[in-house]
Amino acid sequence: MTPSHNLSRRSFVRASAAAGLAAGLPLLCPRRALAESVSINSAGENDPNAATGNVTPETTTLRGLAAKKGLLLGTAFSNGAFRKDPTYGEVIAREFNCLVAENIMKLNAIQHVRGEFDFTAADAMMAFAAKHAMQVRAVPLVWHDALPPWAKDQTFPRQEALDILRDHIFAMMGHFRGRVCAWDVLNEGLSDKGPGLREEGPWFHSIGTDYVEKIYHMAHEADPEARLFYNDFDMDGMSKKADRCYVWIKDLLARGVPIHGIGLQYHVRVDQHPSPTEVAQNIRRFNDLGLAVHITELDVWLPTQVTAEHLQQQAEIFRHVFETALAASNCPAVLLWGFTDRYSWVPGNTGGTFDHALIYDRDYRPKPAYAAIAAALG
Ligand code: XIL
Repeated sequence: MTPSHNLSRRSFVRASAAAGLAAGLPLLCPRRALAESVSINSAGENDPNAATGNVTPETTTLRGLAAKKGLLLGTAFSNGAFRKDPTYGEVIAREFNCLVAENIMKLNAIQHVRGEFDFTAADAMMAFAAKHAMQVRAVPLVWHDALPPWAKDQTFPRQEALDILRDHIFAMMGHFRGRVCAWDVLNEGLSDKGPGLREEGPWFHSIGTDYVEKIYHMAHEADPEARLFYNDFDMDGMSKKADRCYVWIKDLLARGVPIHGIGLQYHVRVDQHPSPTEVAQNIRRFNDLGLAVHITELDVWLPTQVTAEHLQQQAEIFRHVFETALAASNCPAVLLWGFTDRYSWVPGNTGGTFDHALIYDRDYRPKPAYAAIAAALG
């Protein structure tokens, strides 16, 4: 990147922040340039808090430390929690520089009624992000889950299904244009059981295997500037699924499908997680294809009956993830799937078997994982 590029990116940050579009920075920039743009925000130049003297010193928040490393440090945003709990928004604005909607940008939220697009909740999140100079990742344009009643358990004629997806992709990408740093076009498209695509949900059945390339081309057409990702779980290390993903994505790229990055969800259990070495190896092979890698949904599940030892083990896992991302050539974003155990999806998703997956406890007390991330970023 040339100095003049840096200059123009800096001007772009100022101009877009002034226009309330601070969340719209391109993401696939080298970390140095990203560091510059993020630290501009965290230093308060474009932060509404600066005017009121509310800027927390850079070295005492994860956000401040992440800015110095040029890392996007994000959290999933729960609309329900945000609306009922003022502490929730305060901690997010202080500790994170990136947001992802936990649920409110999914198909069932945006198009609960077919053809009627309701952006109200997502717009409120975007306004919060812009106010606090945070970037936004958007997930997911296409998924087999989070379907509205009109799409659940349906098979549509092929052309009708393609039209549904095209309308949704164009509406979303048009509405949020310039305000989203990365789009997960497809979430969890691979089978968990073996080779091939996942067959659940209406899209595979209605359209066939070429639905994947179709939706990436549609997304690229809808917004040629947008950075398009594929996101999935259980492929953080060198798993069989990660191997299959690698071969598949390589083939899609060779056939000209516009994919710019891979999202590694990174939902792991404290007793079942990949080693830092294999995660680094996995990130490297995707980077070598010219793709960015983001860690998109990090949480580390502990048994409900938690011990101090579990919390220490969890802290080590968080620390390793951040160290690995920082050491990689192109892994500029790490997003947690929430930050306080008060609102984590884990107990509900595991029938109460696992819990305590995030970096703050239910009373917003930082856990050892918080200090471990700070150490990795320090
Ligand atoms: C989860 C949310 O956290 C829950 O609130 C919701 O009930 C179900 O979806 N992988 C994904 C996310 O890509 O969208 C999922 O989010 C968690 C697993």
